[in-house]
Amino acid sequence: MIKEEMLKALRESGDFVSGQELCERFGVSRTAVWKAAARLKEEGYEIESVSNRGYRLKALPDVVTEAEIGSRLKTRVMGRNCVCFDSADSTNVQAKRLAEEGAPHGTLVCAETQTAGRGRRGRAWSSPPGAAVYMSLLLRPKVRPEHASMLTLVMGLAAAEACNELLSRAAAGKPSVPQTGLKWPNDLVLDGKKTAGILTEMSTEVDFIHYVVIGIGINVNTEGFPEELPHAASLRQYAGKPLLRAELIALCMEYFEKYYDRFEKKEDLGDLKEEYERLLVNKGKQVRVLEPGREHTGTALGISSQGELLVELEDGSIEKVYAGEVSVRGVYGYV
Ligand code: BTN
Repeated sequence: MIKEEMLKALRESGDFVSGQELCERFGVSRTAVWKAAARLKEEGYEIESVSNRGYRLKALPDVVTEAEIGSRLKTRVMGRNCVCFDSADSTNVQAKRLAEEGAPHGTLVCAETQTAGRGRRGRAWSSPPGAAVYMSLLLRPKVRPEHASMLTLVMGLAAAEACNELLSRAAAGKPSVPQTGLKWPNDLVLDGKKTAGILTEMSTEVDFIHYVVIGIGINVNTEGFPEELPHAASLRQYAGKPLLRAELIALCMEYFEKYYDRFEKKEDLGDLKEEYERLLVNKGKQVRVLEPGREHTGTALGISSQGELLVELEDGSIEKVYAGEVSVRGVYGYV
């Protein structure tokens, strides 16, 4: 806790903060402050300590830890209970385990690397350490089970807005960078390439949701991708400089909380539709909808307030496509 408060105080000041001031602010001894600084140094923070001046944060490492995330959070609920692993099998699996053990609504699980990262439709999600965000948010929504799949779209919108805010902070003053868009229903895209994917899993009964886990993997600082992934991109490739993953995670939580409140009130996306469609890269495009045993082509018009993709077919009729096990491709490529 002191570590988190100390990080916040030093980062916000940007200059020396005296040991005395830190002691008074946190109501602890000088030794406790000194110990917190020593622990932060061990974790890779460059902290200068000068007698009579105090402590100053010289450099921030790109770490995904409870203290780093917690010191940036501005939310009431989302991410307030946060568990970070150096290595996990899958943050979705860990979030489900914590859910079964009674972890609260809004619990966030992050990992530096995953040994069994999971993608949609049973695929693996490659999860090397160092450059990406792997996180899962545990929710206990008071909505009907058939409405829970809309939460994937709420997370997509929140994460896209968070990526865009981070990109514009990085661009500060320079010519604008491209915007992260949404490829319905699960992907974030930048310049026509995939930067993030979402996997939502849930435990429900006929008319009751035990919990929902929304997992998201975001390519943040990855510098290049193997040939087998021609449609992948990272934020860094467009930001032109490395970004801080904890800053992105905290922003995601902030946007998610804002949009979740709006979703929960009506149990639909009516109040988010406009924002969602503004970022929807499929909009106005020819898409191929691949459903198990069925394939059709049409023009994507937008989304319904229930989160379905509205596709105008060649005969002029409008088909509502439900997210489920569907895959949507551009007729001329990935988007
Ligand atoms: C996809 O596009 O196929 C979805 C990928 C989801 C990956 C994330 S990474 C964090 C969380 N843990 C997992 O095992 N999967 C999700």
